[in-house]
Amino acid sequence: VMSLDSHIESVLWTHDQISDRVAQLAAQISTDFDSNSGPPPVVVGVATGAFLFLADLVRKIQLPVSVDFVRVESYGSGTESNGAPVISLNLKLDVKDKHVILVEDIVDTGSTVSCLIPYLESKGASSVSVCTFLDKPTRRKVQVELLGKGKFYRGFQCPDYFVVGYGMDFAELYRNLPYIGVLKPEYYK
Ligand code: PRP
Ligand code: MN
Ligand code: MG
Repeated sequence: VMSLDSHIESVLWTHDQISDRVAQLAAQISTDFDSNSGPPPVVVGVATGAFLFLADLVRKIQLPVSVDFVRVESYGSGTESNGAPVISLNLKLDVKDKHVILVEDIVDTGSTVSCLIPYLESKGASSVSVCTFLDKPTRRKVQVELLGKGKFYRGFQCPDYFVVGYGMDFAELYRNLPYIGVLKPEYYK
């Protein structure tokens, strides 16, 4: 069979580089939330893209946490998300008076996270922190770092390429790559 890797033009972060950075983020989160004497934090992943990062991250956090998912659809197509996000999967857990850690694979324009922070606050979260594996600040339209009364954790700053793998897709494919790379142009069609 043809290798999935042959669809990739260049690798930006290898599986090992990802693992090392995830471990550092989990250690920081474990430290930051350790002195919190309240209820365990709720880790909320943004489906679908955050599924692998969330799975890796929570297994390295040295604290009890609960896990839930939300989904936001920003009706658009291709490589651009547009600016009209709608929450299409609501929380299952009650986050009232809990610290929420919102987990994303990538923050790009910021519209997804900026839609979710007020939603989580409206459910009574005592703080909302954001933990994104990749951050593309050059494309930001909303300064999400300033929202949420919590911290902002980022794995790596991402250059302005369209990246796939480690949860991130093109047309719902390539999420299962264990590394992050740039797709060959012939596969964008
Ligand atoms: C992608 C990505 C983030 C969001 C970032 O999700 O996983 O959730 O876009 O873009 P933004 O900062 O401009 O909002 P997408 O909407 O493609 O859904 P997916 O996770 O199911 O791929
Ligand atoms: Mn997403
Ligand atoms: Mg997507």
